[in-house]
Amino acid sequence: MKQGKLGICIIGAGRAGMIHAMNFCRSIPRASLRAIVDPNRETAERAAKELDVEQVYTDYREALADETVDAVVVVTPTVYHREIVLAAAAAGKHVLCEKPMAMNESECDDMIAACKAAGVKLQLAFMRRFDESFVTAKRQIDEGLIGEVVLVKSLTRGPSTPQPWMYDIRKSNGALAEVGSHDIDALRWFAGSEITELYAVGGNYRCREIAEEYPDFYDNVALTVRFADGKSGSMDGAMGVQYGYDSRVEILGTEGVIFLGQTHERTILTATRDKHLHRPFMNSWRSLYKEAYWAEDCDFVDCILEDREPRVTGLDGKMAVRVVEAGNRSLSEGGVIRLGKI
Ligand SMILES: NC(=O)c1ccc[n+]([C@@H]2O[C@H](COP(=O)([O-])OP(=O)(O)OC[C@H]3O[C@@H](n4cnc5c(N)ncnc54)[C@H](O)[C@@H]3O)[C@@H](O)[C@H]2O)c1
Repeated sequence: MKQGKLGICIIGAGRAGMIHAMNFCRSIPRASLRAIVDPNRETAERAAKELDVEQVYTDYREALADETVDAVVVVTPTVYHREIVLAAAAAGKHVLCEKPMAMNESECDDMIAACKAAGVKLQLAFMRRFDESFVTAKRQIDEGLIGEVVLVKSLTRGPSTPQPWMYDIRKSNGALAEVGSHDIDALRWFAGSEITELYAVGGNYRCREIAEEYPDFYDNVALTVRFADGKSGSMDGAMGVQYGYDSRVEILGTEGVIFLGQTHERTILTATRDKHLHRPFMNSWRSLYKEAYWAEDCDFVDCILEDREPRVTGLDGKMAVRVVEAGNRSLSEGGVIRLGKI
């Protein structure tokens, strides 16, 4: 800790990395952004200039040896999460790790064990759990406002065409991992129970030009789940939908229902003489969850400084990865998958 502030290092200065970086740089009073890591020097230097951060590294190991760094935010492609989190724990740095936590359950176990052994915090970046509406919904459920929860539905659809590295499902774990992780976490959180059974269907409807080379690739997926306590749930995920960023949740109880999600980017609504209404659709997760990212980063700092358990843990990350793996199995083999005991 330097000047009473927690020193933060961002590992991976891409799309999501820059959101965390800007939060830590501008508006989190008890933390300061000390360093940026990216193997692409140009990316790292551009980010450091934009954020006015002095220290730039191209190898995360150098950042982990930096004594002014107390905690790291791991925002690299998922395939590197395990390796970096293990090294961070060994160096005694607290970790905020982006979703999906890792490529498989066993990697998640390694990460949880390493952070526990080193006595450092491990928080998973399911930022929707810090969104004001999500938090209110959870409180209303706990207070019994909609009776007992019966069904949880969640969807996420992204506008942009998938990145080429996503085409190989064995390497990327597909849309269930990249897009669906948040929905899987929302299902578990609002149901307050673990998923024990699932069935997935999906297909490639928008990227047909790569279908021959990557026959397993899917850009649309729907998952039906059963929870340990008998509740039901479903989620759907899609990439390349073009119309906008669409993220909504519905929680049905015995005495009511909760709807979450905002489809419009701004409040403007324009009526024209052809009797049409015009309203800009939500464009990006960056706008919809801007405040949630900030609240998540603030809470990470508070957890470390107040020595308390993060609100979203390694176990939450692992349970989502477990469902992703089972969902991909259901897609490739067909049929219902029953998940074993934890
Ligand atoms: N919470 C969310 O809603 C959300 C949104 C987007 C991405 N993500 C997650 O964040 C992670 C990064 O995704 P992105 O979209 O920002 O990717 P990106 O491709 O935009 O950025 C990744 C960056 O990591 C860098 N990198 C690669 N290997 C590295 C290494 N070994 N050490 C340090 N940096 C390395 C790359 O050069 C790149 O600049 C993924 O796990 C993704 O699933 C989460």
